[in-house]
Amino acid sequence: MTLPTKSPAIQITAFGGPDVMKLVDVEVGEPGPGEIRIRHHACGLNYIDVYQRTGLYNNPLPLTLGMEGAGIVEAVGEGVAHLKPGDRAAYATQPPGAYALLRVMPARNVVKLPDAISFEEGAAMMLKGLTAQYLLKKTLPAEGLHAGDFVLFHAAAGGVGLIACQWAKALGLQLIGTAGSDAKCRLALEHGASHAINYRSEDFVARVKEITGGAGVKVVYDSVGKDTFERSLDVLRPFGLAANFGNASGKAPPVELGALAAKGSLYVTRPTLFTHLSSRESTQAMADDLFAVVLSGAVKLRIDQRYALADVGRAHQELEGRATTGSSVLIP
Ligand SMILES: NC(=O)c1ccc[n+]([C@@H]2O[C@H](COP(=O)([O-])OP(=O)(O)OC[C@H]3O[C@@H](n4cnc5c(N)ncnc54)[C@H](OP(=O)(O)O)[C@@H]3O)[C@@H](O)[C@H]2O)c1
Repeated sequence: MTLPTKSPAIQITAFGGPDVMKLVDVEVGEPGPGEIRIRHHACGLNYIDVYQRTGLYNNPLPLTLGMEGAGIVEAVGEGVAHLKPGDRAAYATQPPGAYALLRVMPARNVVKLPDAISFEEGAAMMLKGLTAQYLLKKTLPAEGLHAGDFVLFHAAAGGVGLIACQWAKALGLQLIGTAGSDAKCRLALEHGASHAINYRSEDFVARVKEITGGAGVKVVYDSVGKDTFERSLDVLRPFGLAANFGNASGKAPPVELGALAAKGSLYVTRPTLFTHLSSRESTQAMADDLFAVVLSGAVKLRIDQRYALADVGRAHQELEGRATTGSSVLIP
């Protein structure tokens, strides 16, 4: 019998501000059927971690936060055929638990990490890059997206945003990005956005109309929610698609269905990555697509913030305070 090992982890026992996160020691045992034990070299920081910390997304307490990581597989449970001890691996997955050095977790969403991709890059790209993948490749208007088409992507200088800017360019799309400062707008442009709008100082609806010659965009990808979503419906062409995939400013208000008719027979969707990751096969296929675009050099991971795991309070404050750009990683 192997004795349980101790691991540092960031846990919450109540929902609230960054101060509810505490560094504790947790016991980590052997993986059961369908599970692995992984030793993280880097953990991803994502906006969803904030929703889980505040309770906007409800989980049972106590809760170790974190949905993304990269490291070395230490042990595999019965029935796990695609990984073995010693493999370099990375993942985005439910349930939370990535803010830790060691973790036992379901193997289904864990994939082998190519040697040419570092652990930090792995932890910076799985959740955000797989999200950009399903948004640009699977969250499409009825008539599809083709080279030259315009899309609007809010928060384009953030973690998901800078990956989406580069990937959209590689697909030949004209991605109009919004961001909260002129410096962030420059960053989006440097990463492939065709146009950038500072939505704190400019009217993004008017600017999109101007850029598209009055036609509007085929898709708006909106993770800001409350502050933008109603106006996002006004930038779409007839039959356009509004994809609300996040709540950085709060939840998007309910949509009055009649408004979709009046604004041009619009479509609305509220997707989540975890529907797309429901099987091992879909996870591997999406990860292969992400690895291919990163290994080709078309998408470069930009890690603008690195924090020690114990410094996670500052990491959350900066993320919520709109002080970060690109991806952030926590080092356990
Ligand atoms: N549904 C899914 O499958 C899925 C998966 C992954 C991520 N997401 C969502 O995608 C978004 C991006 O995730 P991320 O981890 O890469 O975060 P991020 O984009 O790096 O950070 C969030 C950004 O949102 C913008 N923002 C606008 N209003 C804000 C407000 N009131 N408070 C805080 N930020 C505000 C800020 O950029 P500006 O200053 O430029 O406005 C901020 O930097 C998040 O909303 C996240 O929940 C959804």
